[in-house]
Amino acid sequence: MPIRVCLAGATGWAGSELARAIARQTDLALVAAISRTHAGRHLADVLGDPRVDCPIYASAPEALAEIPCEVFVEYTKPESAKHNIRAALERGAHVVVGTSGLTDDDFADLDVIARRQSRAVLACGNFALTVVLLQKFAETAAKLIPQWEIIDYAHDDKVDAPSGTARELAARLAKVRTPAPTVPLDETIGPREARGATLAGSQVHSIRLPGFVISAEVIFGMPDQTLSIRHDSGSSARPYVDGALIAIRRVSTLVGVHRGLDAVLQL
Ligand SMILES: NC(=O)c1ccc[n+]([C@@H]2O[C@H](COP(=O)([O-])OP(=O)(O)OC[C@H]3O[C@@H](n4cnc5c(N)ncnc54)[C@H](OP(=O)(O)O)[C@@H]3O)[C@@H](O)[C@H]2O)c1
Repeated sequence: MPIRVCLAGATGWAGSELARAIARQTDLALVAAISRTHAGRHLADVLGDPRVDCPIYASAPEALAEIPCEVFVEYTKPESAKHNIRAALERGAHVVVGTSGLTDDDFADLDVIARRQSRAVLACGNFALTVVLLQKFAETAAKLIPQWEIIDYAHDDKVDAPSGTARELAARLAKVRTPAPTVPLDETIGPREARGATLAGSQVHSIRLPGFVISAEVIFGMPDQTLSIRHDSGSSARPYVDGALIAIRRVSTLVGVHRGLDAVLQL
């Protein structure tokens, strides 16, 4: 039997790409979608793709009351995400979260509900497999190399900085060690901003220019040698599909809240 999936945000930039991909899998079935604007319509009509035919509901409780699912995918906005995840857990679904912006406190609250229900929440700030590998390779490098800095590149109209990917990378590296700049930042001669923002102990530099799409780079430095690890994505939402499909297939092997796709990968 295919895994029954309900997708919140199925009409959005990331969600619509994932909806089309789920429809192509024989072991997954997209049974319901959530979008306020298109509630009452069929996803096939909204996306112009007959293969993604499922009803659209205005909210998670409405969808889940009518159509049971094994996995609920949250791909909306931070304002609605926590409410949706809680509704899905209370209906007995496992949850895959792509939406960014939930806080550590939000995840702590959701962990209590998930464990009470014996269900899992798998939240991934970035489903791109190249980013998952960048994180893993960087964690390995940080065990041996004590100094690094992160550069986050994006298009000129991206309003938030640093990116969620850069923040997550800094947080992960902080669990390995705190980098120690040779010249302490408060001893910098010149504007302190020239050394970037300090996030979880890492210096992070955000470039926002036309011509860039989305990239993240971490540079490790040792005497007379450097190591750069960099991910670049194009302008479509395609990079986020493969990781999300893995998360949907494997989330039921977990219990409670897990952050990062590596929770279901043997890396
Ligand atoms: N983890 C990853 O790899 C990854 C990759 C890409 C994006 N993201 C994150 O995913 C989220 C969505 O990004 P996006 O670019 O796809 O956004 P988007 O294009 O604006 O799409 C948002 C979707 O959510 C729906 N939605 C918004 N508010 C809602 C609400 N209150 N109730 C129900 N549905 C609601 C929208 O439909 P209606 O407006 O009709 O309700 C739409 O379908 C963001 O947090 C983004 O940062 C994560």
